[in-house]
Amino acid sequence: MTQHHRITLLPGDGIGPEIMAVAVEVLKVVGQQLDIEFEFQEALIGGAAIDATGEPLPAQTLEMCRNSDAVLLAAIGGYKWDSLPRNLRPETGLLGLRAGLKLFANLRPAIILPQLIDASSLKRDVVEGVDIMVVRELTGGLYFGEPRGIFATETGEKRAVNTMAYSEAEIDRIGKVAFETAQKRGGKLCSVDKSNVLEVSQLWRDRMTQLASNYPDVELSHLYVDNAAMQLVRSPKQFDTIVTGNLFGDILSDAAAMLTGSIGMLPSASLGESKPGVFEPVHGSAPDIAGQDKANPLAQVLSAAMMLRYGLNQKTAADRIEQAVLQVLDQGKRTGDIMSAGMTQLGCRAMGEALIDALQST
Ligand code: IPM
Ligand code: MG
Repeated sequence: MTQHHRITLLPGDGIGPEIMAVAVEVLKVVGQQLDIEFEFQEALIGGAAIDATGEPLPAQTLEMCRNSDAVLLAAIGGYKWDSLPRNLRPETGLLGLRAGLKLFANLRPAIILPQLIDASSLKRDVVEGVDIMVVRELTGGLYFGEPRGIFATETGEKRAVNTMAYSEAEIDRIGKVAFETAQKRGGKLCSVDKSNVLEVSQLWRDRMTQLASNYPDVELSHLYVDNAAMQLVRSPKQFDTIVTGNLFGDILSDAAAMLTGSIGMLPSASLGESKPGVFEPVHGSAPDIAGQDKANPLAQVLSAAMMLRYGLNQKTAADRIEQAVLQVLDQGKRTGDIMSAGMTQLGCRAMGEALIDALQST
């Protein structure tokens, strides 16, 4: 029986449309092979939406996303919109999408691929075998806490305020996702906070410790965020699954991604209590190389695989795509960002064609 999934595509800005085109081709081929029918609908977000409608997340886009089984996002932002006020910036569209779809759990894997180990700026023996999953809380904490704003004081001086806040319920639901993720992986969960200074972190640590009693098969540890940053670059192999709040997760997931030396390879999933989730590469919109057929589409393609695995329960299709990516890397095919001596450099479109060939050969 043919299975049907409606996917909202948000190509966004910069290299977004180019890498999205590759991911869509890949999905079509896998769909044909496994009798899965994808209905694609495209919508505007970020700078592209600002140019067309004046706002980074038009109501119509959010509505289309809500009416789909999953959302595949490419990247947003660019120099052109950098000087707009905060409520009109492309990033605000992304934050609105996360809040609007209640995507409180962000899964960011950082895996060293053996083929790309020399692309890391760290020594081979430090990074070889690294396989970390950062579970970042995505709809709370300092990003969304109230009050926030820039206020005038009595003296006329400006004063800016943001609020870091987490309720027990918010901590528990991200904790649950993290413990369950760790259960399916190496069984180790490291919770990262700043409980030597912040009350929010004290509550975070207490709740994580409480939750641990429901998961006797998961070994829970705690680190302060500064130490966690240090440990990540000192000996990253000690980590299996990391759970942390929104801001710490933003920072640590970039550090974890960079361990792999190829941020252009990393996908992510943002999930709520129910469908649809949003699946997107960790990298940005790379406006400097946009439109030049130089972008690496692999993180976008791997995001489509994460969408199949975590959003649509299509494990076989996800496996096929991930295998195809490994196969083209084994063939020595590389985009510029992951190029090394002796390999064959391809553009974005040619990399897409190589993936299709790999898919069709198995
Ligand atoms: C990310 C990005 C976003 C964030 C920005 C673009 C708002 O850095 O997804 O990590 O800070 O969450
Ligand atoms: Mg970030």
